[in-house]
This record gives sequence, C-alpha cells and structure tokens, in this order.
Amino acid sequence: MKQLLCPSMMCADFGNLRKEIGDLDRAGVDIYHCDIMDGQFVPNMTMGINDVKTIRACTDTLVDCHLMIENPGEKVDWFLDMGVDLLYIHPESERYVVKTLSHIKSRGKLAGLAINPDTSIETVRELLPLADYILVMTVSPGFAGQAFLDLTRKKIATLLQMRREYSYKIVIDGACSPEIIKEFTRLGVDGFVLGTSALFNKKEEYSTLIERLRSL
Ligand code: DX5
Ligand code: ZN
Repeated sequence: MKQLLCPSMMCADFGNLRKEIGDLDRAGVDIYHCDIMDGQFVPNMTMGINDVKTIRACTDTLVDCHLMIENPGEKVDWFLDMGVDLLYIHPESERYVVKTLSHIKSRGKLAGLAINPDTSIETVRELLPLADYILVMTVSPGFAGQAFLDLTRKKIATLLQMRREYSYKIVIDGACSPEIIKEFTRLGVDGFVLGTSALFNKKEEYSTLIERLRSL
C-alpha cells in the first residue's frame, strides 16, 4: 500500500525553502504538511500565511494546513483562498465543527479532523461522516522532537476498525519514526507526517530517506 508521506514543513530549512520544496518534490512526497500555530491553542508559533503562500507557489503537490489555532472557522477561508487542498481543524478549538467542516467541503476542498491525545473518539463520533482525513496527534501538539505517546495506539486501532463505516483516511502526526511508520503501515494507517523523527535534520538526501520509507 502506498502510504501518504507528508513532510512537516515547520521542520524545514526556511533559509532555503524553495530548494527544500524542489528536493522534496523530486523525492516524491505526497502532501506538504503546514503546522499553523497561534500561541494560544498551543504554546508555540511556527509557520504563517506567507510561508504557506510560498510553499503553494513553489509546487503543484498537495498542500495541507494543520490549524492549531483558536476558532479556526473564522480563518479557514484565508487558507482556502490561497489554494490549500486539505485543512485540518481541531474540534477542541472550534465551537461550530460541523459548520466549519461543511464549509471546507462546500468549497471543494478536503476536510480534516485533527484530534489531540486527550480527545476520545466518542466525543467526535458525530463528526466522522464529515471527515475526509483524520489526523491523530501522537504527541501533544506544538513541538517537533517529542516522544510517541503509546496511549494513542488504542485510538488508532479503533479508528482503523470504524473506517469500514466511513470514508476517512487516517494520518498520524508526531514522532513518526521509520519503526512507527513500518508498524502502522502494516496495520493499515494511510499516511504519516514526517518531521525530525524520519526526514529532517538527517545526513542523507530526502530522496534516499523517502525511498527507504516507501519500502517499509
Ligand atoms: C507537532 C507537529 C508535527 C511534528 C512532527 O505538533 O504537528 O508535525 O513536527 O515532527 P517530529 O517527527 O519531530 O515529531
Ligand atoms: Zn501537524
């Protein structure tokens, strides 16, 4: 099964962003993952609107935005207007989740539901029919370089089981090492956000690393 390999662009070298995107495109990545943080919903600020605009302008590959911001419903059109293909919102930060997911879909884009380690499937069950993608946070959101939270394994297994009733794809985000990618590819997870655990700040070329991940 061809997993979706999604480079976490907050980990990229912003001093050479255009070159990074060229190298990642040549390596054959599937979706550029842009972590947008407001310093409120998560205690960090990473990428901004201009970074997403630059990435969008440099590639025809799919681009997603992971909105780790308060009240994302008020800002989704900013990202849709600039051509983002997939928007992940957190139900923990949005009062009108159904309305916001429906709005994203009404604009012909992919609607993503990002769920924190603390959030149970039971509390988002009603939203599952609206989600094209589910982003399971396997670390507490906000920072790269953390350890994989084993407590999320049961949630992933539940989502894999329930997937028969729905049409969502499952992507995991946080501490996706080659070992984790191998384990969860075999279980049927559709995609992985690649940060410092598998892709960035390594000695080897992106194409070598991506090719090796594809073979897992
Ligand atoms: C965490 C970010 C992830 C992170 C993944 O909030 O959403 O994209 O950068 O990178 P590593 O592999 O370092 O956890
Ligand atoms: Zn993310």
